[in-house]
Order: sequence, then structure tokens, then C-alpha cells
Amino acid sequence: MNVQKLNVSDYRNFETASFSFDPDTIHILMGRNAQGKTNLIEAIYFLSHLRSWRTSKTPSLIRHGQELFRLEATIENKGRVESLKMIFSQGKKYLFRNDKPVQTFSNFVGILNAVLFSPDDLQIFSEPPKERRKFVDMELVKLSRSYTTRLGRFNKLLKERSAILKSFRVDDVLLSTITDQMIEEQAVLITQRYAFIQLLEEKARAVFPYFGEGREKLSIRYKTCVDPSLGMDEIKKQLTEAYQKTRLKDKQMKTTAVGIHKDDLEFYLNDKLVTQTASQGQKRSIVLALKIGLCQVIQAKTGQNPVLLLDDVFSELDETRRAGLIASLPEEIQIFITTAEPVSPSWFKRPVRFYTVDHGVMKEGIYDV
Ligand SMILES: Nc1ncnc2c1ncn2[C@@H]1O[C@H](COP(=O)(O)OP(=O)(O)OP(=O)(O)O)[C@@H](O)[C@H]1O
Ligand SMILES: [Mg+2]
Repeated sequence: MNVQKLNVSDYRNFETASFSFDPDTIHILMGRNAQGKTNLIEAIYFLSHLRSWRTSKTPSLIRHGQELFRLEATIENKGRVESLKMIFSQGKKYLFRNDKPVQTFSNFVGILNAVLFSPDDLQIFSEPPKERRKFVDMELVKLSRSYTTRLGRFNKLLKERSAILKSFRVDDVLLSTITDQMIEEQAVLITQRYAFIQLLEEKARAVFPYFGEGREKLSIRYKTCVDPSLGMDEIKKQLTEAYQKTRLKDKQMKTTAVGIHKDDLEFYLNDKLVTQTASQGQKRSIVLALKIGLCQVIQAKTGQNPVLLLDDVFSELDETRRAGLIASLPEEIQIFITTAEPVSPSWFKRPVRFYTVDHGVMKEGIYDV
């Protein structure tokens, strides 16, 4: 997948600008701090996810003093060209695909599939489990419609169960019915999450040695309430037992203690927990391996590479790791890299286009600003 054209209007510090990009090419966005490099890849990310990773306050993305912002892109996907447009005005997003209005977010999100690495991602190791679940869900939602529907059904059931537990007199029959339905949905969701994490681990593990971390083995452990490697029937059996065990306590505490809403991921280098022992550079290498691995998972599942956005990726990486990162980038993938540090064209053995960003203006070429 490639972004052929991008138009931005009143987005952050960009007034109106149009850019053309090349397929399967690395685009390097250079410039001093606070010039708009990240803003530009944020615009691509926004068209992919309909939100920013930097803020939940979409109005703050409107250029100061203006009332709306507009983002447009032409996307090439498996040889098919599509246009996407998003206008944000008065707190509302107006979406268009090939100039026709799109009513629901789910019919727009992921058409442009972008995978982002940002320095904020290093927090994945220390954040609460909810964020790691979000990472898995966000990708699975893009990869599988059935996952999306099922997860929606599970969340609804979880809310219903919680309402029953909180009611004055708990309806035991209803509680059992809802619990049984939750078990059915979860058995499939656990299997899907497990398969995704296994594949991600395999791909990330293969990339990891590029970062000079050859001696260490990267592992990702999917922590859930049952053994996820088992068959569907066995998973259901274990879930049923787990719910039977906690039923009384759930009624006392008025909450559901067991289920995939408590799932987590654990990362290991050899057999040591990353949170406890890994250095900053190692954590960065792991996250980069995960993101590049994720691109390969998407390629394997959809037959199409996503667009890769790497924000400030060279800082804190020593020369070996930087070279490793460049060597590990898949060939047929369009990449955008922002950097405030000088980058030499000689680092790359493939087509690279250089841009300089200065005060919300991006021009092709390397300029001394
Ligand atoms: N809504 C907005 N309207 C106008 N300008 C904005 C808006 N939001 C952010 N900016 C400006 O955008 C600039 C920051 O852009 P960005 O985060 O892309 O910087 P950067 O080039 O990536 O810098 P760094 O190298 O420090 O990461 C700042 O000058 C900021 O004032
Ligand atoms: Mg930046």
C-alpha cells in the first residue's frame, strides 16, 4: 500500500500543502525541532486511525485561529487507487471515500493502513495492561471483521453482566445465560489473540538480531485466564471452571474478575522480563522489532504491506542499531522517517527521498535551515 498524494489544510502548523510520494520508497523528513515533521506523519496516521496518538483532543489539531482542518490522500492498494478525505469541523468528522460520504468510522479506519513507531511507544512496557490490550485489539480489528463484531458483542455482554451483579437482587438464571454467552465469544477471541501474538512473536524475533541483539531471544507471552494454546473445547471447559470458581466472589464484589478484559502481554529477553532488566536502547530495539514484525504480519494476512511511519527513530540508537534498523526494513514498503539529526543518503541501499521541514513548510531536498 502506498500514499500517492497527501493534501493538508490548516492541520497543526501547516496551512495548505500538497505532496506527492513514491511507492515503496523511504521518505526522510528532516528539520530542526518544532518545525512540523511529526505533524506531517501525524496527518497520515490520522487518516488511518481517525485520531492522533499524541492527543485525544482533535480540536487542538486545527491550525491556530482557524475553524476546521482538512486531510486528503490518494491511496494505492493492490493496484487500486482510492481517495480518502476527512474534514473536521465543529467537533465532527466528515468522511469521504472516493468523494462519496462515509457514515461509519469502521468503513473508513484502516483503508489506509499505517503502522507507527513513536518514542511514546516505549511506554508499552510500563503502562497498565489496558494499553497492551489496546495494541493487540487495534491491529486485530483492522485484520478481522469477525474479531471486531465478536469483541463488540463481548464488551456488551460484560456490561450486562456487570449490571446484573450490581442489581439489588441478582437474577441467577440471567447471570448464567450471560456468562455462557461470554464464554462462547471469549473462546474464539482468545484463539484469535493467541494466533496473532504467536505470529507477531515469530516475525519480531526474526528481525530482532538486526539490532545487534543476536544473543538474546525475544519472547512475547500472552497472559490470559486459560491456556490459550489449547483447542477451543478445552478453552471453553477451562473458562467454565474459572467462572464457576469466581461466581460467588463476583456477586460479592459486583464485578467480573475473570475474562479477556484482564488479558495482558509480557515481553522477555531470554527468560528475563523486559520491564525489569532491559536498557532503554534494548527496549527501543524491541519496539522497533515489534513494529516491523507487525508490518510483516499485516503483509502475511492481507497480502499488502502497510505504510510505515517512524517518528524520531534514530535518536538513542547507536550506529550498529541504526544500521540494523535500516537493514531490517522490508523492501516493498513505503516508509516515512522524521529526524532532527543529520541523515546521510549513503546509509541506504534503496530509493530515498529527502525533505526539509521548516516552519510548517516542507520542501524536497536537504537544506541548511
Ligand atoms: N494547532 C496548531 N496550530 C498551529 N501550530 C501548531 C498547532 N499544533 C502544533 N503546532 C506547532 O507545531 C510545531 C511542532 O510540530 P512537530 O511536533 O511536528 O515538530 P517536529 O518538527 O516533529 O519537532 P521535533 O524534532 O522536536 O520532534 C510547534 O511549533 C507547534 O507550535
Ligand atoms: Mg517530532
